[in-house]
Amino acid sequence: MTFQSRPSSNPDRTSVDEIVGGRRMRRNRKSDWARRMVRENTLTVDDLIWPLFVIAGSNVRQPVASMPGVERLSVDEIRRDVARAAELGIPAVAVFPYTDPALRDATGSEALNANNLVCQACRAIREETGDIGIMTDVALDPYTSHGHDGLMSGEEILNDETVDQLVTQALVQAEAGTDIIGPSDMMDGRIGAIREGLDKGGFRNVQIMSYAAKYASAFYGPFRDAVGTNATLIGDKRTYQMDPANTDEAVREAELDIAEGADMIMVKPGMPYLDIIRRLKDTFAMPTFAYQVSGEFAMIAAAGQNGWIDHDRAMLESLMAFKRAGADGILSYFAPMVAEKLKG
Ligand code: PBG
Repeated sequence: MTFQSRPSSNPDRTSVDEIVGGRRMRRNRKSDWARRMVRENTLTVDDLIWPLFVIAGSNVRQPVASMPGVERLSVDEIRRDVARAAELGIPAVAVFPYTDPALRDATGSEALNANNLVCQACRAIREETGDIGIMTDVALDPYTSHGHDGLMSGEEILNDETVDQLVTQALVQAEAGTDIIGPSDMMDGRIGAIREGLDKGGFRNVQIMSYAAKYASAFYGPFRDAVGTNATLIGDKRTYQMDPANTDEAVREAELDIAEGADMIMVKPGMPYLDIIRRLKDTFAMPTFAYQVSGEFAMIAAAGQNGWIDHDRAMLESLMAFKRAGADGILSYFAPMVAEKLKG
């Protein structure tokens, strides 16, 4: 396609040629090769982290109703998906448990069980392949009867007591072979405490990706279905997760986490918070990740299923947006689909 230059059909109007004076932005978009030449960002399989849900049993692949295409997997089935992920070249998976309600209690004690689902999954994944990183969540919500990320006294979420327990949880996961600890609880001081615990425990090489700016968001709904915390959660998480109205606060959160020893930082949710990703990346020049959370996934998946949007194009566009915002990688439930797409 080329552009014809012609006088304006309206004699009262200045012609476009006169307005642009030869500066035509569309020139660089004239064909696929030209667009590829000037493309500023790329999305590759190396950008992907695939979150997986683990559930008890064997041969279980249980669909999550609010996340079309996503399933809770028993440990044996996780092996299969992880083998597929490694084959696709996805660098890491993140494991989240659906804990049997009978094992949930007020203190989330199952989080400290060295044979809990997450630990079983870590060992199975490590046995299956050495070619993939394992990330595990540190927070108590999938294990507590009240669905909160921390210990409670009355209505209050106890900070320092929770941190003690999170350190133990991180050590239990490290023993099981996790590579990256992802503290998602938003307690103050937990990054420093976990770093110290890992180092003293002989896990100097276990990385920490802090959920540095994690907002109290409505977009976690489908995830809470997946791990069963919609059923348990009493109240909301606004005394520890961030207010969606704030951005300076995200800078201070990230600053503290970095000072306490975070190797990588994360912003969550993703797409509604692209400004935060850009700001943290520009401010700290740290490896910065985005979590395209369950609600974001559900919106695209459901609209795609209904034929309201082109699913695959919307999926790829949403992930490219994270790259443009400065993210070094993205946790996304679309990871295997994107990896397949990028293979061509
Ligand atoms: C738990 C946790 C949550 C998510 C990741 N870790 C939910 C929450 O804080 O309630 C959300 C992920 C998603 O929505 O995809 N600490």
